[in-house]
Amino acid sequence: MQKESREIIITLIAGTIIFLLLGAWMLSFLFLYRNRHRKHQQEKEQLRLSYERELLKAQLEIQEQTFKNISQEIHDNIGQMLSLAKLNLATMDLSQPDRLEQKIGDSKKLVAQAIADLRNLSHGLSTDYIADQGLVRAAEHELEMIKKSGGYETVFLLEGTPYPLDKQNELIVYRIIQETLNNIIKHAASQKIIIHLRYRPEEFTLSIIDDGKGFDLTPLTNNSSFGLGIKNMHNRARLIGAGFQISSTLEQGTSVMISVPVGTPIT
Ligand SMILES: Nc1ncnc2c1ncn2[C@@H]1O[C@H](COP(=O)(O)OP(=O)(O)OP(=O)(O)O)[C@@H](O)[C@H]1O
Ligand SMILES: [Mg+2]
Repeated sequence: MQKESREIIITLIAGTIIFLLLGAWMLSFLFLYRNRHRKHQQEKEQLRLSYERELLKAQLEIQEQTFKNISQEIHDNIGQMLSLAKLNLATMDLSQPDRLEQKIGDSKKLVAQAIADLRNLSHGLSTDYIADQGLVRAAEHELEMIKKSGGYETVFLLEGTPYPLDKQNELIVYRIIQETLNNIIKHAASQKIIIHLRYRPEEFTLSIIDDGKGFDLTPLTNNSSFGLGIKNMHNRARLIGAGFQISSTLEQGTSVMISVPVGTPIT
């Protein structure tokens, strides 16, 4: 009898211990799960914030670049044309009617060209420039501006039927075009610039190729003190799930390529 009740007590104690251990295990499991879940949520939130921050930064850089282009265009082209028209008007000699007609004609042409250029510029100032124009037109416009500045042969190639990418993706791609073209102007000393846009059902690719002096890519791979431009392009391409490649050969040129996978293209 005594033995039996001792066994019951032992079983009870063992049961309680197992129960407590199980409870403790479950509690710690729940605790760990909650912690991990919270950490995961925090990481997700941080990723979302850095994505939005990066988009905003790219948007501001596009604006900055656009203002730079516009001030240059006003200074170099429109300003020049209006100054010439003013000079024409100021030097009109009413006693020479035959030359008068020529000068009036020239001034008219200059003012008309200035108006047309101003109209183009004001389109570029639209708040949603890329959405309004579409990526193709925006890219072509960037290249035209460079061609107009002189000193470059430019080629614009379009393959496939264009479809809109995600708004954010277009913004990032456009910013990459601007930075790559800036780099060519700043560093490449090239004569030719090619922009190639390729729209395939499953993937959009952009290549920008120059025939300039090229550069050594090694510092890029060991993350040393290289400029921010290429690093930003690389990070931003990753942010939108795109591939980014840059290749360069000394004395031959550089090519930058970005490929954006596409879900179902809108046709
Ligand atoms: N198309 C190119 N041709 C020749 N060299 C280039 C070209 N693009 C980039 N480089 C070289 O790579 C370097 C890094 O370019 P990156 O855009 O990162 O920086 P950056 O243009 O010098 O400065 P930032 O873009 O920050 O104003 C440049 O300093 C230049 O030496
Ligand atoms: Mg740069």
